[in-house]
Amino acid sequence: MSRQSLSKAHKKITELSWEPTFATPAKRFGTDYTFDKAPKKDPLKQILRSYFPMEEEKDNRVFGAMDGAIRGNMFRQVQERWMEWQKLFLSIIPFPEISAARAMPMAIDAVPNPEVHNGLAVQMIDEVRHSTIQMNLKRLYMNHYIDPAGFDITEKAFSNNYAGTIGRQFGEGFITGDAITAANIYLTVVAETAFTNTLFVAMPSEAAANGDYLLPTVFHSVQSDESRHISNGYSILLMALADEENRLLLERDLRYAWWNNHCVVDAAIGTFIEYGSKDRRKDRESYAEMWRRWIYDDYYRSYLIPLEKYGLNIPHDLVEEAWNRIYNKHYVHRVAQFFATGWPVNYWRIDPMTDEDFEWFESKYPAGTRSSAGGGRSITGCGTPAGTSRSRSRTSATSTRTAAGPAWCRA
Ligand code: BEZ
Ligand code: FE
Ligand code: FE
Repeated sequence: MSRQSLSKAHKKITELSWEPTFATPAKRFGTDYTFDKAPKKDPLKQILRSYFPMEEEKDNRVFGAMDGAIRGNMFRQVQERWMEWQKLFLSIIPFPEISAARAMPMAIDAVPNPEVHNGLAVQMIDEVRHSTIQMNLKRLYMNHYIDPAGFDITEKAFSNNYAGTIGRQFGEGFITGDAITAANIYLTVVAETAFTNTLFVAMPSEAAANGDYLLPTVFHSVQSDESRHISNGYSILLMALADEENRLLLERDLRYAWWNNHCVVDAAIGTFIEYGSKDRRKDRESYAEMWRRWIYDDYYRSYLIPLEKYGLNIPHDLVEEAWNRIYNKHYVHRVAQFFATGWPVNYWRIDPMTDEDFEWFESKYPAGTRSSAGGGRSITGCGTPAGTSRSRSRTSATSTRTAAGPAWCRA
């Protein structure tokens, strides 16, 4: 632009009147839920001022444990089989964490309650912290563990193996589609309230039994934030329950969220606990026993069932079927076989799917012949109950193609 036209443009700009106007926020993350009748108070209000000193204290403890692990020579004593599985687990878990952080603006946008916004903003900071301290943990393993190979490629590996694609659809579930379905029911009401118990409490105790006392410090630091996240989710759930119109949406979403969480978390954490451990103490609980305690009793019986007093239909059939799969149908064992068989070909292709690949895939598996949402083809032969995939319909759920679909089927 010449000097002359620049000064012309400048003149034009200064001639414009600059009336103050207030921006109307764009609605980016839609939801079918309505919150017209909901109270706009947060019954479980959280206080920001106490938050940062508390988190600082927790971070200091984590740093102390890291220092202790190095000085105490933990990396020469920790069980090797356990650490191999950690290469997989730590490749995946920071992604759902950062997805949880990204879910918070979606929820804030969708819920008209400034008091809840406060809690959700604080949760966003937590989730960034979780993702980064987990990445830092894996960096420490890479630098100090006797066999670091694998920890060095976790980010690349995550996107190129079938286990990673399952983890990816899990994390993307927090941020995809209807804002309340994703960020509240799927992430908070089910993943955080039910399944972080096995993820961040049961699994770390198995780590400790295998000589890794650092991972439990990191993950218990994570889990102690979850109680606040669970409160956020419960506040929004109570708000949603105030509008009768939301009932069918809630029932649909509970089915989908429960089943997807069961399929993914029980597969991964069940395998780590049952097959990653070399600990053989007599009073050791099986994954099924842990699940019965943490999920069936503490979540289903004491959190989900009481929601019936609000007139909500709880997915009893899916909870019982999840238990049946774990206890009677050897779900964890079948998944472990699947992981073990597939592991050697995990990184069999590094480049993303080309157009030719895609055409090949479409010709081999024409649309309509493949199932997708919730992890693609069933890996266990145990079947997938109806109404457990996402749908825009309020009453019957249909399949949706997920980002993980093609990659999953390829593997
Ligand atoms: C969470 O950060 O809240 C979360 C992460 C992974 C799985 C479930 C919940
Ligand atoms: Fe988290
Ligand atoms: Fe969380």
